[in-house]
Amino acid sequence: MASKGAAVLIRGHILQVVSEFHRNGTEEIHDGALVLDRAGNILRKGSFNDLVHEYSALPVRDYTGSVILPSFFDTHIHFPQLDMIGSCAEELLLWLQRYTFPREAAFRGRNKFVEEAAENFVTELASNGTSCAVVYSSSCGEATDVLFEEFERRGLRVILGKTSMDRHCPPDIAVDAEQDLLWTEKLISKWHNKTDRLHYALTPRFAPSCTNELMAMLANVYASDSSLYLQTHYAENKNEIDWVAELFPDAKSYLDVYDSRGLLGSKTILAHSIHTNEVDEALLLNHDVVISHCPTSNLFLGSGLFKGEGYLEQGQRVTLGTDVGAGTSFSQWQTMNEAYKIAQLRQERLSPSDLFALATVSAAKHLGFTNLGRLDANYAADFQVIDPKSRPILERHLKMATSADERLAALMHFADDRCLLELNVQGQAVYKRT
Ligand code: GUN
Ligand code: ZN
Repeated sequence: MASKGAAVLIRGHILQVVSEFHRNGTEEIHDGALVLDRAGNILRKGSFNDLVHEYSALPVRDYTGSVILPSFFDTHIHFPQLDMIGSCAEELLLWLQRYTFPREAAFRGRNKFVEEAAENFVTELASNGTSCAVVYSSSCGEATDVLFEEFERRGLRVILGKTSMDRHCPPDIAVDAEQDLLWTEKLISKWHNKTDRLHYALTPRFAPSCTNELMAMLANVYASDSSLYLQTHYAENKNEIDWVAELFPDAKSYLDVYDSRGLLGSKTILAHSIHTNEVDEALLLNHDVVISHCPTSNLFLGSGLFKGEGYLEQGQRVTLGTDVGAGTSFSQWQTMNEAYKIAQLRQERLSPSDLFALATVSAAKHLGFTNLGRLDANYAADFQVIDPKSRPILERHLKMATSADERLAALMHFADDRCLLELNVQGQAVYKRT
């Protein structure tokens, strides 16, 4: 007999990772089912045969032949860098000056260009299976407003902020602390926690882009509301680190610049964190900071090889980011793929299920979403449906795989936006392949 509130059965091959790093937490049900309530929350999970008897009156959304997985979190990506993926430069600082800052200047105001770019940006995330992204907008408040509207309209989850920067950049994208505060307060009051899908992140670009006055203003706002996020870049590249040392001669380290100004906490998301030392790693742990590992970006800019397994063994809160446009793909499968190769170069071991956890269950937990990242009772039904038939090579590898980890390896190498049949948030399709 159907329990109260059940609305629909979802049928397919369920594959997920329920626990983190090296805990072999893969779970698979070959002919599985989820029972959802009307609000798109999961009531039950089990074999289709068992659940269809209990819930015989419910309609079935039948994805037999396809794989149902938790949808992805992308914990670091830049909206105004959508059009500059693959812009080649020797290293980060030259890349910023030569390509990034001029490109970001186009993302100002509310206009057709920004609206279309927002639509394309959200489509790229959705068509790659990402249902929750942590996003840097441009430094402009209006363009950020447009992007929030687009996320709301499309039903994806987002943690988004206007990039704050008031120095060492062209004047058309610099915003002084006073104007920045006006925009920041307006965006927070309009969007932060407007629904359980929309959240604000204070976004000082990185220490070299921010005066002490700007960082102090943002730290004040961060301290005023414990539900706000804060995101920035940290220790990505050697030239950047040397520059920070020059700009902040009194700081003990790059991380100390952020620590001494009140920017570190359990809702702080630091992108990169490649070139660190024992003292700073202890500080990262003490503050419970969330780290976003961005492998395709780190390889593209030659920034360095992230210490993935080492950090995870320390208990650091590691997640995965695409970092488009230094990153070269919107796909978290591709991002996992490159993270795997970085681990190999460092003689570290990260399995496909370790990496899948970083983009799903671990990211949800570290960002504070207790009902996301897994497909189980009391979790929201945020899931992606992969159709193996859309790529014969994927289908072959999935058929030959003998374990959940091998199936995740096949997906990591061959799944892409051609294979994504559907992306769901709270049980509702927010993307369907046409
Ligand atoms: N550091 C400061 N700004 C940026 C950016 O836009 N991308 C990357 N990868 N690093 C940064
Ligand atoms: Zn970045």
